[in-house]
Amino acid sequence: MNGTLTVLVVGGGGREHALAWKLVQSKRVARVFVAPGNAGTADEHGVENVAVGAEDIDGLVTLAHERSVGLTVVGPEAPLVAGISDRFAAEGLRVFGPSAAAARVEGSKAFTKAFLAEHGIPTARYAEFTDPAAAAAHVREHATPIVIKADGLAAGKGVVVAQSEAEALAAVDDMLSGRAFGDAGRRIVIEEFLSGEEASFICVVGGGEAVPLASSQDHKAAGEGDTGPNTGGMGAYSPAPVVDEATHDRIMREIIRPTVEGLMAAGTPYTGFLYAGLMIDPGGAPRVIEFNCRLGDPEAQPILLRLRSDLLELLEAAIDGDPTRMRPEWDERAAIGVVMAAAGYPGNYAKGHTISGLDAGDSHTRIFHAGTARDGDRVVTSGGRVLCVCGLGKDVGEARLRALERVGTVDWKGAWHRPDIGHRAVARERDEGRR
Ligand code: AMP
Ligand code: GLY
Repeated sequence: MNGTLTVLVVGGGGREHALAWKLVQSKRVARVFVAPGNAGTADEHGVENVAVGAEDIDGLVTLAHERSVGLTVVGPEAPLVAGISDRFAAEGLRVFGPSAAAARVEGSKAFTKAFLAEHGIPTARYAEFTDPAAAAAHVREHATPIVIKADGLAAGKGVVVAQSEAEALAAVDDMLSGRAFGDAGRRIVIEEFLSGEEASFICVVGGGEAVPLASSQDHKAAGEGDTGPNTGGMGAYSPAPVVDEATHDRIMREIIRPTVEGLMAAGTPYTGFLYAGLMIDPGGAPRVIEFNCRLGDPEAQPILLRLRSDLLELLEAAIDGDPTRMRPEWDERAAIGVVMAAAGYPGNYAKGHTISGLDAGDSHTRIFHAGTARDGDRVVTSGGRVLCVCGLGKDVGEARLRALERVGTVDWKGAWHRPDIGHRAVARERDEGRR
């Protein structure tokens, strides 16, 4: 920490802890502020929390001016979709994250589907509705499973993969009536169900160029075997073996480049992390499930744990329009992040439980905090996803063993996690071992 640059990370989850932890290691960085941060960021050397909310754009502008922030990195989607980057740019503040117009790739599913169609980028067939009768008729005419999505932001929960017509009709009704997601659900997209294996493919984008980060896969479902309600993500690992070299090339050629070039051509150039949520079919053909205008959470935690090269340099190169002049270097090992959640999550959950066992460290694991807060000398739970316990290993199986061992040392009342994060990769590794 000999640098002079002050960096601001906007957000307070596990992704932002990982970002702050990684950015403060840059030799050019003197100090990292996190707004609002959590108990984990408060504890990092060189990192300081500031009590400004991630969506308080006025407050963040003031903070950036007052503390002479040289670069702001925005974690979550809500401030990006609300235009934080445009506002910072207008104030002469340097920021890494897309403009509101470019952030529509996440902010509006209808926008994204039309954009993908226009540019011939592979994705599920779809139709868009605001009228309940027309939407219901469409559901009745199509086979199940069928996928119903709220158009706007719904904290990762606005998607129903309906197995039956009745379930699909109920989802349509819940969303279009405004009951399920308020205004975010008054327009819906109904799309074809895609089968295959999912992967998260996240790039650093700027100047019409994209530099891919290591691939990853997350587990959105709450229950073992990927069952039960959707969450923000119960764990992730990197790399994702389903993204082999040939598939990687296809993703860049068929999805990332046309997207980045299409946004540029439309007069809405993209600067920031671009997250493509993909379905890879058994033949290795990728299709877009969704775009996000930010890093994934929890994907960021295992990805950044594997990043050996300087993150700041990469982000700065992207802002300057030439990210490809930096080549990220990766730890050869696999990394996994297991989310420890509060009892009740993704539904209602209690806060304020004391967390024990956080300081029992070892060199193969690292805990990124998400929903935690300081209460005197205690660290207490303050969110649904509380911690992301990460492990590194020669393969996903070993990384998982180490992460789960560490999980076993941490506790609070009602803590739970999925023990099967990475099961597809671990099964593959077992198959390969048998050959
Ligand atoms: P999204 O919020 O769009 O990423 O959707 C949440 C989850 O729903 C995805 O991670 C997929 O598991 C699933 N999903 C969304 N769209 C589709 C689709 N067209 N076919 C199959 N599964 C889907
Ligand atoms: N882990 C999925 C997301 O960040 O959207």
